[in-house]
Amino acid sequence: MNLKRFFFQLTLLFLPIFSAFSQQFTVDQRVADLLSKMTLDEKIGQLNQYNDDHTATGPVTLDSDKGGQIRNGQVGSLLNCLGTERTRKWQEIAMQSRLKIPLLFGQDVIHGYKTTFPIPLAESCSWDLEAMKLAARVAAVEASASGIHWTFAPMVDVARDPRWGRVMEGSGEDTYLGSLIAKARVQGFQGNKLGDLDAVMACAKHFAAYGAAIGGRDYNAVDMSDRMLWEVYLEPFKAAEEAGVATFMNAFNDINGIPATGHKHLQRDILKGQWGFTGFVVSDWGSIGEMINHGTVKDGYEAALSAITAGSDMDMESRNYKNHLAQLVKDGKVPVALIDDAVSRILRKKFELGLFDDPFRFSDPEREKKALNNPDHVRIAREVAAKSIVLLKNEGNILPISKSVKTIAFIGPLVKPLKQNKGFWDVEVPGVDSTFIVSQWEGLKNKIRPETKLIYAKGCAIEGTDKSGFAEAVEAAKQADVVIMSIGERRDMSGEAKSKAHIVIPGVQEELVKEILATGKPVVVMINAGRPLVFPFISKNVPAILYTWWLGSEAGNAIADVLFGDVNPSAKLTMSFPVSVGQIPIYYSHFNTGRPAYDDNNHNYNSSYLDESIFPKYEFGFGLSYTTFTYSNLKLDKKVMKTGESVQVSLQVTNSGKVAGEEIVQLYLRDKVGSIARPVKELKDFAKVKLAAGETKTITFTITEEKLAFYNSNLEKKAESGEFDVMIGASSRDIRLNDGFVLQ
Ligand code: GLC
Repeated sequence: MNLKRFFFQLTLLFLPIFSAFSQQFTVDQRVADLLSKMTLDEKIGQLNQYNDDHTATGPVTLDSDKGGQIRNGQVGSLLNCLGTERTRKWQEIAMQSRLKIPLLFGQDVIHGYKTTFPIPLAESCSWDLEAMKLAARVAAVEASASGIHWTFAPMVDVARDPRWGRVMEGSGEDTYLGSLIAKARVQGFQGNKLGDLDAVMACAKHFAAYGAAIGGRDYNAVDMSDRMLWEVYLEPFKAAEEAGVATFMNAFNDINGIPATGHKHLQRDILKGQWGFTGFVVSDWGSIGEMINHGTVKDGYEAALSAITAGSDMDMESRNYKNHLAQLVKDGKVPVALIDDAVSRILRKKFELGLFDDPFRFSDPEREKKALNNPDHVRIAREVAAKSIVLLKNEGNILPISKSVKTIAFIGPLVKPLKQNKGFWDVEVPGVDSTFIVSQWEGLKNKIRPETKLIYAKGCAIEGTDKSGFAEAVEAAKQADVVIMSIGERRDMSGEAKSKAHIVIPGVQEELVKEILATGKPVVVMINAGRPLVFPFISKNVPAILYTWWLGSEAGNAIADVLFGDVNPSAKLTMSFPVSVGQIPIYYSHFNTGRPAYDDNNHNYNSSYLDESIFPKYEFGFGLSYTTFTYSNLKLDKKVMKTGESVQVSLQVTNSGKVAGEEIVQLYLRDKVGSIARPVKELKDFAKVKLAAGETKTITFTITEEKLAFYNSNLEKKAESGEFDVMIGASSRDIRLNDGFVLQ
């Protein structure tokens, strides 16, 4: 190749790097250039986020002149402002400010914008990372077409206490799975890169350990060792950061007495220091001011000082930055450099989103019309919803229901509602009513043959003691060949500020089930909820149980797909279901203790209850299928693993039933002896495999040293030599194959 051609090729090779560097250099330079022109007030304005009047997701402070403050450059962002029309209106006012710095519009697009997906906890039970990424992608495409730049998602709080209503927003109890899901959702929301028209900034929240609130009471204190914080609660945040999440949101809770919002070690040392996070941190609704209630500051002045010093860049709704930062600078308490760092982080994202080039690029009504709930999104929502339904019981194979069934009675308070299916964090899209949602009743009507008779009876309300509807429901059941019941919580019984001490099925619904069972008809019960519930009578006596969570706008069609076998349920629980509230917290990756209890029959000086089982009702990783799977031929390519090596694990899974299905094969490890106690098992890999009836596939896993590492007493994440058990499970309790190896 002649020299000229060589240099030409070389330039081509380096061109993308130069252009990326020049772009980044441009963004950094543009930020610095703009910063140099800003007054202190304008800088503080960028740190100020207000709630718009569309809805409220926290205690509201009414504002007299929001428009005037935006025009004066005193507001950097609005939340709960959505739709191209409304966002354009506020952005036009922002363009009247001296420096024309565009507003950021943030919204809780937690599981879909208009097209609504299953609540995140339900979706996590699909164990389908691609599906969860796609669901986030669809949400981003719709939200970004509707003026939204930034979603306050994914919520990545590990949660092991179903009394806490916000379990519905996360990915359950496991750190490993939660970290993978955090990454998938961040990638889904942010797409290829920020600045693309269909990308929104994601937000890893709530930093940190919000899911460990004592007693499962929302906003309550969190008390744990640094080791536990690192081992269990920080990993999903680290995964989100490594996935390039644009923003973090801190949390309402304190950690060992330090409010997360004012937690310098968390936000500056770990997040911005060790992890090198270059995005920005937004406080959670009013959490800066709430430090006064925590009792770690005496007033708003001290709250602003504590938060800005700790690395909270943007103040959501508390107004303490607006009211006190200028004075704090004048009093020499806050160096301008801290303000400049926070402002730069926020401006950088506005540049990356392209808002300075075109502040209205996300507010395009034509794009909005085309994007929202289009047929492709509807199809995806239906598929993801069906993948999120957990089959808990199917005695006598009542399910799937034959399509030649003559009469079905569909009974319960959640058969016909529309909006209930959207769960707690749905988005009230302007100008959109609920008729686009497919109710469970509609879903069945869409599915059954014209000659099949469908009888409806509500039976009872979700709450209350009124049983006057029982008789009609029993009558309906008597006429049917099969009875389907849809019962559960109201959608706002799980979610923020929805902690419950009694996680039971509300009202007289379980009594209704009892009456219907007494007719002797085959009964399928579907439970709709945002959290694990306790339902002893149903779990004992009903032959077929589906956990349908809240499945979103395609709930009805997805449920019908599963009920009639067009989709074989494949979901598995990502959170333990307790037998009773008294067992909480109950999770699979527990320590062995010095006096382990291995069953419920022996209470002789061991770690068991006299009056309750030590096992969950339904364990982490549990879920049934319309087919069965057998596991065989577990092989490890070595029994001694030297440092730097890995162990190749292989096994075979066979679909031993009569219909195709998907199985989530789980790899658990146990570090048998460590410098600190290690859990009896930990999920370290999984594979979701599709198998035709009778088909066998080989599954392989690679165990690397990284998978053996844990945080020791010095908070070093390291693997330690010694013996490891290898367990292959269909769930965390249903271990099908065992082996082991030694790390040297
Ligand atoms: C709420 C929630 C947070 C949400 C924010 C904005 O209080 O804690 O998750 O993103 O306020 O709605």
